[in-house]
Amino acid sequence: MENKKYDNELDVSFWNERWISGKTGWDIGYASPPVTAYMEQYKNKNAAILIPGCGNAYEAEFLAANGYTNITLLDIAPEAVARLIKKFKASTQIKVLCGDFFLHDGKYDLIIEQTFFCAQVLERRNEYAQKMASLLRDKGQLTGVLFGINFENPGPPFGGDKKEYEKIFKPWFQIRKMEPCYNSIPSRMGSEMFINLVKK
Ligand SMILES: C[S@@+](CC[C@H](N)C(=O)[O-])C[C@H]1O[C@@H](n2cnc3c(N)ncnc32)[C@H](O)[C@@H]1O
Repeated sequence: MENKKYDNELDVSFWNERWISGKTGWDIGYASPPVTAYMEQYKNKNAAILIPGCGNAYEAEFLAANGYTNITLLDIAPEAVARLIKKFKASTQIKVLCGDFFLHDGKYDLIIEQTFFCAQVLERRNEYAQKMASLLRDKGQLTGVLFGINFENPGPPFGGDKKEYEKIFKPWFQIRKMEPCYNSIPSRMGSEMFINLVKK
């Protein structure tokens, strides 16, 4: 793709090809339990919620079914987005957008992270944190799951550890929670960290 910021950037063609060829090994088939557990106690049903790099967006199905009214889905891959538009065409609670997170404009109360951070090359991590903060209202939250391990194979997914993540997020966020997940799916148990970060 032209206009890449980094030579190794994973661009729209990379992700769209994954969707077209069905190489979507990240897809767990249902809403991520650490996210649903958090949302079960999140009170504001009218909060503006963004799910970037949403893929099949099972979390959005969960949120809509639980009465959340203002959910925005964003993915860079047109193939994924075409499927989402079809899947959610009857929903008045869910808006589907095709676009690059790093170029997205908006203001949200809550942004949900589920295997989106790990899909970005390491060079983009600081930019990711800064962009997340810019998309949040005052005291808005970035919450969800990060991998807390390093992977043997070259990414994606790209892993990391708590020390590294604290350094990336601390300039922009108060770290309310960054701890091992107790409720990961079996195949990811021991490899995930739950985060709840509040915009400074
Ligand atoms: C590893 S998948 C995770 C999908 C979903 N969150 C899940 O857990 O099943 C990463 C997703 O992010 C999308 N993506 C990658 N880079 C993006 C970007 N810069 N802006 C928006 N979406 C992006 C990809 O198309 C892909 O659907």
